[in-house]
Amino acid sequence: MKILAVYPGSFDPVTNGHLDIIMRGSRLFDEIVVAILRNPEKKAMFSLRERERVLARATAGIANVKVDSFEGLLVDYARKRGARVIVRGLRALSDFEYEYQMALMNRRLDSEIETVFMMPNEAYSYLSSRLVKEVVGLGGSVSGLVPPDVERQLGMRIGNGPASGKRTRKARKGGRR
Ligand code: PNS
Repeated sequence: MKILAVYPGSFDPVTNGHLDIIMRGSRLFDEIVVAILRNPEKKAMFSLRERERVLARATAGIANVKVDSFEGLLVDYARKRGARVIVRGLRALSDFEYEYQMALMNRRLDSEIETVFMMPNEAYSYLSSRLVKEVVGLGGSVSGLVPPDVERQLGMRIGNGPASGKRTRKARKGGRR
């Protein structure tokens, strides 16, 4: 029997830590659906369309990865897709409490669906979408931490241009106001 997994999240924006988990999941499961939460109440920096496009491009080389979006209860979506597994990344102990609560609540809602925690490469253990936005907003570089598409979009949106880190150093030296 084929095992289909769902990897849900906000992905606002996707980081290389997320992509690391997707890659690991793709080796473990027959198919992994990256499911972006559609939440009109939560103001995202990137539109759903942008997040879908970036994720689709970043995972284009992995045959058993699909990108989709969902709203409502995750377990309802997983059931509808025929997925028996929810994948979540665990970076550090600090993630555990929230993830544990979610996993047990999801189990209570549907005992047939298992949550599987996966650890990203330790190089990404400190990486989060929130920090990425903060660093770019303050003029730092996130090169190597997010896909090139995301780096470019972040630079345009909240940094000082496509290569925000470099430009900002110049700006600090007085080359730009
Ligand atoms: O990337 P995030 O923001 O940590 O992802 C959180 C997500 C999307 C997995 C979580 O908010 C979720 O599953 N939302 C769907 C609504 C739901 O099912 N809530 C009950 C979960 S216990």
